[in-house]
Amino acid sequence: MSSTAIKARTEQKFVPIYLDSIRVDSVINFDLYLLVNKQLVLYRAANLPFTERTRMKLLDNRVDRLFVAQEDRGQYQRYIEQNLPKILADPSVQEIKKAGILYETSTNLVKDVLSNPTFGENIQRSRELVTNAVDYILKGRDAFLSLLKITSFDYYTYTHSVNVCTFSIALAQQCGFDDEEFLHELGTGALLHDVGKSRISERILNKRSALTPIEFEIMKKHPKWGMEILEETDQIAQASYYPVLQHHERGDRRGYPSGLSLDEMHTYSKIVAIADSFDAMTTERVYQRAMDSYPALKIMLSLSGAYDEQLLRSFVELMGPTGLADL
Ligand SMILES: [Fe+2]
Ligand SMILES: [Fe+2]
Repeated sequence: MSSTAIKARTEQKFVPIYLDSIRVDSVINFDLYLLVNKQLVLYRAANLPFTERTRMKLLDNRVDRLFVAQEDRGQYQRYIEQNLPKILADPSVQEIKKAGILYETSTNLVKDVLSNPTFGENIQRSRELVTNAVDYILKGRDAFLSLLKITSFDYYTYTHSVNVCTFSIALAQQCGFDDEEFLHELGTGALLHDVGKSRISERILNKRSALTPIEFEIMKKHPKWGMEILEETDQIAQASYYPVLQHHERGDRRGYPSGLSLDEMHTYSKIVAIADSFDAMTTERVYQRAMDSYPALKIMLSLSGAYDEQLLRSFVELMGPTGLADL
């Protein structure tokens, strides 16, 4: 390949990116690396034009992954967020790659949000991203399914947040909620539902053994802390606060922080409560093995009165239509 190949410094760390995430003729303000003979080499220095010819050459060589230095990840993340609508609308990009790009972008973004939740710009970015995510997921069940395939079931709060956002939007659609404002507010609240956990120490969050009563009391504060963080930053619609504050409420009044009944819970909260419980059960965590979808749904159905019955039935249909009759 005719590039001014310079060997990358071996001590540098790199992250793989999709070739499809780089738009022809856009300004790229980070270096692009290529894997050649098991070694990463500098392929395009920052600010050099990325033309259709460059892209075709890579495709001819069957390259569909490029690499970005870890230190440039922030630049790449901003680039991709700006270009995401074009990528998702591009018919030449495969659905599975769109889903991959959307998922990586979302997880990195939520990671940024959680590492600095009071930074207003991050909250603003997540609102824009949810808009894109909603528009994309709205295009149909196939898109949702390809997104679902990519979903990593390893437990990290940020991937969990993206999962819960995805499930919540899909569930709302399944139930016939198709108003854009509804979906945007719900999606934003779902994506940020655990933002209050950023105030809890990693020691408690990733503890392998059971939490002590005091630790559990601290853990139970994250819905209120999440709402406080959102109020302080004042960047999103107030209706999106409901699922943040109420996602651990249960219809049988056994939830927290307020022991609400189903009638007292906002619709967004009832949806996110289902998405959140399901994802928590089906995700591998340091102290818990991942459960399959089927037994997880069965447990949720057995907790009579905890979840909105109609919403839960729709969620079961969404996640496992073939097993519905057996549950
Ligand atoms: Fe939570
Ligand atoms: Fe959660």
